[in-house]
Amino acid sequence: MAEQWHKHDMDLLGGRRLRRTRRTAWSRAMVRETTLTPADLIWPLFVIEGENQKTQIRTMPGVERLSVDLCIEAAKQARDAGIPALALFPNTPDHLRSENGAEAFNPDNLMCRALSAIKSAVPEIGLIADVALDEYSSDGQDGLVRDGEVLNDETVEVMIKSALVQSKAGADIIAPSDMMDGRVGAIRAALDASGYEQTQIMAYAAKYASFYYGPFREAVGSGSRLKGDKRTYQMDYANSDEALREIEQDIAEGADSVMVKPGMPYLDIVRRARDNFNIPIYAYQVSGEYAMIEMAAAAGAIDRQGAIVESLHAFKRAGANGVLTYFALEMARELTQ
Ligand code: PBG
Repeated sequence: MAEQWHKHDMDLLGGRRLRRTRRTAWSRAMVRETTLTPADLIWPLFVIEGENQKTQIRTMPGVERLSVDLCIEAAKQARDAGIPALALFPNTPDHLRSENGAEAFNPDNLMCRALSAIKSAVPEIGLIADVALDEYSSDGQDGLVRDGEVLNDETVEVMIKSALVQSKAGADIIAPSDMMDGRVGAIRAALDASGYEQTQIMAYAAKYASFYYGPFREAVGSGSRLKGDKRTYQMDYANSDEALREIEQDIAEGADSVMVKPGMPYLDIVRRARDNFNIPIYAYQVSGEYAMIEMAAAAGAIDRQGAIVESLHAFKRAGANGVLTYFALEMARELTQ
């Protein structure tokens, strides 16, 4: 009976047993399709004023905002762990936030001081500078607001000035995260005209109006200011074809690489981008995704380490060249030991 079934089964399957290659660790390693290395991981850092200052972020347990001197220490650790680049986000002091976001292009702002201090202390690591007004404006929107409307072209003018002071301070990659139309081309032209033709642009190309950014807004201090939402510029989560138009446009305007954001809920977009465009693609495992993993693990619902490694492999499998993740340092160390 058993023999009969076996024979019948093998006939049906043509002799294939897909479990054969999964049987042993060496064989699983041999057929593994994607790998994770420290070079895949970009580490976001939140910067605050002061010296030897660290502050907790309630909704991101385990992540701290760091003063510039501590950012330098973090950069050294990241470099030693094989992380290629850091993404910096300033928590601008309240009194420097304003309606016109002028602090964004103050050459001596917190962001610029962090960029130049890290660049001179740890020149081996790449520095990615976020360009958007929410980190400097009094209303938490990524652009200038007039009569309740987020202005496009006027915002782009400010972003150009912001990108220029950041490049001067030492940014290697300008990462506009605002989703204004035309900003990549405008920033590219301005960089080229000012002698920064080697400064890259990583465009937050397919950035969705997402509920997963909540903890980040606490981290940079924009959340409590934000009235309404960002749906007139960030993308509708119901859309996918539109993401390809956004990416196509940013590439046409001169982006060196593009980003999909958030990450895990948008792996389908990463995959479509990979299949449609020949350019480096990064995914951002955003603050809400981080919080979900940390909090589920703290509640005993999932294995923390396992879930982190699995989530990062998922990005690679979907076709991302790298991932911006708050787990970067811990994982890079894990991978190099
Ligand atoms: C905006 C910006 C945001 C993030 C990166 N850049 C928030 C937003 O668009 O509201 C989110 C990153 C995260 O959630 O980890 N400048």
